[in-house]
Amino acid sequence: MDSSREVLVCQHVNCLGNGSAEVLKAFQSNPVPGITVNASECQGQCNMGPTVRVLPDETWYCRVKSEDVSAIVEQHLKQGRPVERLLHPRMHAKF
Ligand code: FES
Repeated sequence: MDSSREVLVCQHVNCLGNGSAEVLKAFQSNPVPGITVNASECQGQCNMGPTVRVLPDETWYCRVKSEDVSAIVEQHLKQGRPVERLLHPRMHAKF
């Protein structure tokens, strides 16, 4: 798997208020080889937080809860299938 992959978990005000510190902790306690997990500044999606962004895929997840993290880790980071129910609808609009 591409070793440059990264998970950004917003730790700015609005996302923090919705539990993003717990989301970050959940990712950090589920490490995946070759994928780094980092706290980030505001990602500009404050009303849809906690915001999680996977790079370089440019997959955006919204309203992520700590209990959602295992699905993102297992299904997306390990198996390459994004978790559709958590995708940010504006970033991943289907036309
Ligand atoms: S506070 Fe998290 S996206 Fe803005």
